[in-house]
Amino acid sequence: MWRSGLSSQKRDPAVLGDGVEHASGSGLGTIAVEAVSLAYRAPRGSGQVLVLSEVSLYVSAGEFVCVVGPSGCGKTSLLHCLAGLVAPSRGIIRVGGSVVRGPGRDRGVVFQQYALFPWLSAVRNVEFSLQMRGVARSERRALALEYLSLVNMAEAAHVMPKALSGGMKQRVALARAYAAEPQVMLMDEPFGALDAQTRRGLQLDLLRTWESERRTVVFITHDVVEAVLLGGRVVVMKAGPGEVTADVTIALGSGRDARTVDTDAFRRSKAAVEGAMESRAPDK
Ligand SMILES: Nc1ncnc2c1ncn2[C@@H]1O[C@H](COP(=O)(O)OP(=O)(O)OP(=O)(O)O)[C@@H](O)[C@H]1O
Ligand SMILES: [Mg+2]
Repeated sequence: MWRSGLSSQKRDPAVLGDGVEHASGSGLGTIAVEAVSLAYRAPRGSGQVLVLSEVSLYVSAGEFVCVVGPSGCGKTSLLHCLAGLVAPSRGIIRVGGSVVRGPGRDRGVVFQQYALFPWLSAVRNVEFSLQMRGVARSERRALALEYLSLVNMAEAAHVMPKALSGGMKQRVALARAYAAEPQVMLMDEPFGALDAQTRRGLQLDLLRTWESERRTVVFITHDVVEAVLLGGRVVVMKAGPGEVTADVTIALGSGRDARTVDTDAFRRSKAAVEGAMESRAPDK
């Protein structure tokens, strides 16, 4: 679904990220979470609460990995560590072979709440990302419109965020994240606030975009159907403290569409993930 104009804007390692030099062959687009633990200060009194315990997760370049787990198991905390918004108490995270030490343009983040600039129209929100990655002013408008077309939002290009529905805002947020051309996309329940029909439309658009671009995606969700429909792998976490308990490969291949959820293969994968969510990891 990437248009010709976009495909000519291939990712250029020299303009990526956070000023960290990426050695060639260093694994652009890979993610390595190595034995990450995270403790927050306890809400009352002294002491700390362990939120993530020895979480390890490896994602190859171009993989689409979903993370599921009960509320409070640390999914958002893990994503914040990946985004560089929170520093792990222990362990290390590498993206593209470089240690994460803070936020960087190598990682695009899409949150559940629409984080658009309210004072900029849809197209100008997308142009902002292009400006950040150094695209010349004369090229920004046309390219931003192509990114909006990608998410079926070209017709609303000049609408201000306050006049967009939730689903439309999230489409613009996706276009803006894609326009930044990050190595990896980090998504925390991006469709969580949407009705079922809008949500399915956005899921399928995201799949089509990913299938043509193969950008690495880590996608957090509560919804097992969403995880199985989108993911090549579904990583299962448990709470108290947050740990990875299973890593289920979803053998549905490419070309997934709205009918995929009605297939036996889908039902088998869903049952495998649900089974993994029910069975607790053995106590250490
Ligand atoms: N900034 C913070 N300070 C202290 N505790 C926090 C902080 N952020 C999260 N927590 C706690 O860490 C635990 C994990 O929270 P987190 O938001 O990562 O879970 P989650 O899996 O994303 O949950 P949900 O599915 O409800 O979004 C929770 O017990 C939460 O109360
Ligand atoms: Mg969360």
